[in-house]
Amino acid sequence: MRIIRTIREMQQQAEAWRRSGEVIVLVPTMGYFHAGHLALMRHARSLGTLVGVSLFVNPTQFAPTEDLTSYPRDFDRDRRLAEEVGVDFMFVPEAGAMYPSGFQTQVEVTELTRPLCGATRPTHFRGVTTVVAKLFNIVKPHAAVFGRKDYQQLMAVQRMVRDLNMEVTVVGHPIVREADGLAMSSRNQYLTPDQRRRALVLSAALDRARQVFAGGEVRSAVLIEGVREAIGKVPEVRLDYAELRDPETMAALERIDRPALLAIAAFVGKARLLDNVVLTPSA
Ligand code: PAF
Repeated sequence: MRIIRTIREMQQQAEAWRRSGEVIVLVPTMGYFHAGHLALMRHARSLGTLVGVSLFVNPTQFAPTEDLTSYPRDFDRDRRLAEEVGVDFMFVPEAGAMYPSGFQTQVEVTELTRPLCGATRPTHFRGVTTVVAKLFNIVKPHAAVFGRKDYQQLMAVQRMVRDLNMEVTVVGHPIVREADGLAMSSRNQYLTPDQRRRALVLSAALDRARQVFAGGEVRSAVLIEGVREAIGKVPEVRLDYAELRDPETMAALERIDRPALLAIAAFVGKARLLDNVVLTPSA
């Protein structure tokens, strides 16, 4: 597996690969790989001839109060894991090269990034779409794979690609879960064993909502109240939001008469965890 550290080398190599007919598929990451990342890489393999992973802990998507400095990092382990799943190259730029002095351009998807995570982290998505736009310009992928745990991020990137006529196919990959249901996240490693057990209420509350919906309940207020109640009972788990939204536009939904995203975020100890499910009415 080739490690590429400079923007210039990455752009020149990507250009050469494209000219020789390779189909480049990118998995953008911030590293500290878990089985969810590896599933994205394996899926990327099925979409092209060259799989690349970018590893960059992007400072602009963290607010000053957030966990940029403590974000888990282990390059040697990441490199070994990516190599084991057959990744062809890793792009590992320096922050100073991505954001040199004088940098002042932002890519912002305005509306669909406002609610949910955007309400709690108002500058987050601007940082994400800006860095992803840069990565697309540097790595020049034909396709890129993102996990659906960060559902709003996936929608923002798809919107950006459509709005800016970028020639990249953005592919979503289903949430990968631990055996007990916890959605995989690099931030799960912040959890103590007790907190990890408590965090299971997130996936359990979504499962319960899915069952209640399958039983005929379509009112958002009722479904959301069920989630709030379940999470409210667990000490050390503080709900940030639980909302039912249109899965593409993120517009709020009062009832489920078309597919609906039930998304939650909660603080558990130092970690802010996300989970979601799409509820689809039967025809
Ligand atoms: O999902 C992530 O890991 C990051 O937000 C991304 C897409 C790599 C951009 O920094």
